[in-house]
Amino acid sequence: MTMGTPSAGGVHAYGEPAYWDQRYRQDPGPFDWYQKYKTLAPILDIYLRRSHRLLVVGCGNSILGESMIADGYQDVVNIDISSVVVEAMQKKYQDIPQLKYIKMDVRDMNSFEDGSFDAIIDKGTLDSLMCGHDAQHSATKMLEEVGRVLKDKGVYILITYGDPNYRLHLLRDLHLWNIHMHVIDRMEKSSEQKTWELTRPLPLNEDGSSVAAVLGTNPEVHYIYVCTKDQSLRQNQNEGVEH
Ligand SMILES: C[S@@+](CC[C@H](N)C(=O)[O-])C[C@H]1O[C@@H](n2cnc3c(N)ncnc32)[C@H](O)[C@@H]1O
Repeated sequence: MTMGTPSAGGVHAYGEPAYWDQRYRQDPGPFDWYQKYKTLAPILDIYLRRSHRLLVVGCGNSILGESMIADGYQDVVNIDISSVVVEAMQKKYQDIPQLKYIKMDVRDMNSFEDGSFDAIIDKGTLDSLMCGHDAQHSATKMLEEVGRVLKDKGVYILITYGDPNYRLHLLRDLHLWNIHMHVIDRMEKSSEQKTWELTRPLPLNEDGSSVAAVLGTNPEVHYIYVCTKDQSLRQNQNEGVEH
């Protein structure tokens, strides 16, 4: 299943909570967007530790959390705006205390204190917000909150269909991260066609054009932005320090 850029009207239901409630009522899943844990595990292994406190934003009915616990991760908190899916997941995983599900809007995570998590994983959730009403504002609120609840030197791992033209400026505008870019072949491709080495970062210049130069036009990939929080970048920005 793919989530493209919004149609001519500009707005798609993916940005609306009511859409997700209805969808999860009709189709309880499980279903993973874009990629499964198995294909992502090598890159998560590089940036995460099994002891990390992890947050999955917009978890849906994906089995990512379950797979991570099975692979040794010890503390995975999941949030989603849909009460339908959160209640179903709480019930499904009531016997796995390392896996928690909470109904919460990623744009307002005030029940989490600043610096609560070592890493935050987003597979398709910023993409959903970017399809909704007031996309830019929603996305900025989300990223501010992600930056707030992440520890300094923690990582925000964004798995998205959005190439640097559509995502990099949003991330960079926060002046909060050092960003590494990885790509992974879309799942629809057969394994013989594998093109990109997941664990090797691509060169990333200021506007992201270096990524397009390597990948060519219309690459069949998902982009993985690994954003390491560095509080000093914001301090320097506020103080007007030149780099
Ligand atoms: C494209 S799905 C991805 C689901 C899951 N991460 C996966 O990879 O299969 C986007 C998810 O984001 C959730 N979502 C949308 N807006 C949200 C918001 N403001 N706060 C929290 N979750 C939200 C939706 O309910 C949906 O479960």
